[in-house]
Amino acid sequence: GGNMKAVELKNGIFWVGAIDWAVRDFHGYVTQRGTTYNNYLIMDDEITLLDTVKYDFAEITIKNIKSVVEPSKIKHIVINHIENDHATSLDKIMALTPNATIYITEKGKKGLERFFDISKWNMKVVKTGDTLNIGKRTLLFLETPMLHWPDSMMTYIKEDKVLISQDAFGQHIASAVRFDDEFVTCQSMSELDDAVVDYYANILMPFGQLIKTKIADIQKLGLEIDMIAPDHGIIWRSNPNKVLQMYLDMANGRANLNVSIIYDTMWHSTEYMTLPIMQGIKDEGVECKVIKLRSTPMSDAIKEFWHSRGCLIGSPTLNNLMYPTVAEFLYHLRGLRPKNRIAGAFGSYGWGGGAVKEAYEEFKRMGLEIFEPGLQVLYKASSEDEEKCYEFGREFARKTKEYHKKFE
Ligand code: FEO
Repeated sequence: GGNMKAVELKNGIFWVGAIDWAVRDFHGYVTQRGTTYNNYLIMDDEITLLDTVKYDFAEITIKNIKSVVEPSKIKHIVINHIENDHATSLDKIMALTPNATIYITEKGKKGLERFFDISKWNMKVVKTGDTLNIGKRTLLFLETPMLHWPDSMMTYIKEDKVLISQDAFGQHIASAVRFDDEFVTCQSMSELDDAVVDYYANILMPFGQLIKTKIADIQKLGLEIDMIAPDHGIIWRSNPNKVLQMYLDMANGRANLNVSIIYDTMWHSTEYMTLPIMQGIKDEGVECKVIKLRSTPMSDAIKEFWHSRGCLIGSPTLNNLMYPTVAEFLYHLRGLRPKNRIAGAFGSYGWGGGAVKEAYEEFKRMGLEIFEPGLQVLYKASSEDEEKCYEFGREFARKTKEYHKKFE
């Protein structure tokens, strides 16, 4: 009781998680809006907890649980995912209910052993299709390996048609409200959409094919979904199909017909090139966003890349290579295995050049659609160079429009 309170999703199903207002560095991902660690408590004949929270919030989830029931009464604990932000309070929960049984995937169990001494815990390994009856309700487990860790799974509460979806369909948003309809009222739908895309781009971009397969599996099983409750951010109760459709669209290569110019600069020469390039893009009727890497969190640049069908990378040459922040961006991007995007590169150089060539090598490694040749300018753009920049922008926008047609 007291000041801490669980939030009821449906009769007897409670959110007992924690709001992290302060986190801005989530394992390197810049979370400007903070996040939440959502976990859920089901009050049934056999009381069940789904997931825990990040270790520094153990006390908070325990207080939220206590606002509903004494933690010692918890009989089952489902661990859908062992990553630190969800599983590292497990030892503190287990200390309060040492005889509870933990339900986890095979890979989850192997991983959990690396974090805790599990020798005294009751562990039950589950796989897709396994069920657990807790009284009036049945839980159905669905393994989702590599969405986004090998151990990941989801839990479906059959009678209530609630999908506890773990990281999938989540967003890094700290908010006083828990549900999509409330969030849209107090903030906005576009902010919620932006947070979904941001999360997908930075965490789930590599797994588009798996996402399609998993959503098809859910449809094949005929699971009706009334509510999607992820382990971060807002819970989808008014329109769970909206986020399912957004995920399918993104997995199928959806992007906006616009161009992001992502660059860095030493003495403003490369930066100066962005102006006529941007003008050329706009004159082709294509929207354009310009992002300077040294002024922008990496995860925001990744999101802007993902929003746009076309991307132009601008880099000055430093010691015959790309500027380090540009190399860092492309290295990060390669790990995310981007698809269905067209890319080109430009930049200034002083003597040998090299940055543009290096950028194209990265594009080839990633298997992106390539716009060639790139554009290099010696020291500083002359008026003839500006004209070339303008034409480069126009031609890139034309090619982007043409490429975009494939996805319509
Ligand atoms: Fe939110 Fe993969 O942890």
